[in-house]
Amino acid sequence: MAVKLGALLLALALGLAQPACAHRKVLLLLLDGFRSDYISDEALESLPGFTEIVSRGVKVDYLTPDFPSLSYPNYYTLMTAGRHCEVHQMVGNHMWDASTNTSFEIGVNRESLMPLWWNGSEPLWVTLTKAKRKVYMYYWPGCEVEILGVRPTYCLEYKNVPTDINFANAVSDALDSFKSGRADLAAIYHERIDVEGHHYGPSSPQREDALKAVDTVLKYMTTWIQDRGLQDNLNVLIFSDHGMTDIFWMDKVIELNKYISLDDLQQVKDRGPVVSLWPAPGRHSEVYNKLSTVAHMTVYEKEAIPSRFHYKKGKFVSPLTLVADEGWFITEDREMLPFWMNSTGKQEGWQRGWHGYDNELMDMRGIFLAFGPDFKSNFRAAPIRSVDVYNVMCHVAGIAPLPNNGSWSRVLCMLKGPASDAPPGLPSSCCVLALILLLLFA
Ligand SMILES: *[C@@H]1O[C@H](CO)[C@@H](O)[C@H](O)[C@H]1NC(C)=O
Ligand SMILES: *[C@@H]1O[C@H](CO)[C@@H](O)[C@H](O)[C@H]1NC(C)=O
Ligand SMILES: *[C@@H]1O[C@H](CO)[C@@H](O)[C@H](O)[C@H]1NC(C)=O
Ligand SMILES: *[C@@H]1O[C@H](CO)[C@@H](O)[C@H](O)[C@H]1NC(C)=O
Ligand SMILES: [Zn+2]
Repeated sequence: MAVKLGALLLALALGLAQPACAHRKVLLLLLDGFRSDYISDEALESLPGFTEIVSRGVKVDYLTPDFPSLSYPNYYTLMTAGRHCEVHQMVGNHMWDASTNTSFEIGVNRESLMPLWWNGSEPLWVTLTKAKRKVYMYYWPGCEVEILGVRPTYCLEYKNVPTDINFANAVSDALDSFKSGRADLAAIYHERIDVEGHHYGPSSPQREDALKAVDTVLKYMTTWIQDRGLQDNLNVLIFSDHGMTDIFWMDKVIELNKYISLDDLQQVKDRGPVVSLWPAPGRHSEVYNKLSTVAHMTVYEKEAIPSRFHYKKGKFVSPLTLVADEGWFITEDREMLPFWMNSTGKQEGWQRGWHGYDNELMDMRGIFLAFGPDFKSNFRAAPIRSVDVYNVMCHVAGIAPLPNNGSWSRVLCMLKGPASDAPPGLPSSCCVLALILLLLFA
């Protein structure tokens, strides 16, 4: 009995010291610009792939993004420890560091790969890789960057908008990698729903077609999971970074040069719903005062940014931040609008949809769905926030979450069985319990 007790204590100690108690496989799908109502009950009627997933698993009413409701800030909030932008420091798609005069431009310029932008917080894939888990990432923004000295096991780098075929191949390859034991967690990024939403608008047939293509891949995916016998050993989480709203370049554009002299600005980052301004030395008050009178937008000095945005303490936040009313678009002048290359082959296409606005607006809301052995089936859950997803991922991956801004109580209800009583930070408790039972009945 003494031997048994000793072994039990040892097992307990091991279990606690080793939160990386091997759990089930995890597949993450990040669908950019997927607004919550794209899978309303009515829309689901013509989406058999999503319908099957909803009936097998969990669907939340919507997911509220972090502010600004843009991609990079929310990619990072979702994966980088469930922390708000002012904590993880990825505060925009375009950023400027005044102290080193370097820029981050939505991941495309060389300077964007500098650790400066990425190491404000530890992403889940870094935590998992450090714990000797094998992480496969497909087109996931940032997987090619060495963050805090670590890269994932595998990264298929994002170069251009991945096609629907790319997406299907990534899903199939990820499932093969689980089956063969090459991967423990796989993460796939898909962008086309966002792209069509920008170009043609959130209600356009082009955006609907992009969604149908994803639906078809999901329909295949559920079959492929069965074919590979992974259904009892794989949890799948599907979520988006933000939604999309209609914009109107014919009449809802705010041109800054109509109110201030652009020479009074040292630096400007981004155009659209949120614009960051660094006034030239001695020009702060004049720029602020003039912009305060502009209709359909708000200019904030750094300290006055609403706390609910969880944004103002970010180290790359500019002295002045402009936030447009929904549907309005801010630019230095009309020539600087971000036109896209349509089939004329010229950079002249108008954008019809955008996001980035106040994160509480309905149109900015995204999605969260999950199914697999650790999730309840056919379960509709109340809304969650992008900071909440991290705790769920850690739980199903069986790794202890880092301190974060997510709410455990908002996500607990979607998990199945006794595991759902586990407090955050102790995802290994079920492993420990299994060991105890093993020893007692040995
Ligand atoms: C900052 O960098 C930009 C472009 O790289 C350059 O044009 C500008 O002169 C630099 N500013 C300072 C103060 O070095
Ligand atoms: C992140 O990178 C910056 C710039 O290279 C550096 O100053 C900082 O110490 C790094 N932080 C960590 C935690 O490694
Ligand atoms: C390309 O965009 C321009 C500006 O929005 C539009 O006038 C033109 O008709 C578009 N061409 C095609 C083929 O869509
Ligand atoms: C968010 O989490 C970080 C890291 O745990 C913490 O320092 C910060 O105070 C939290 N912020 C809020 C608003 O809870
Ligand atoms: Zn977008």
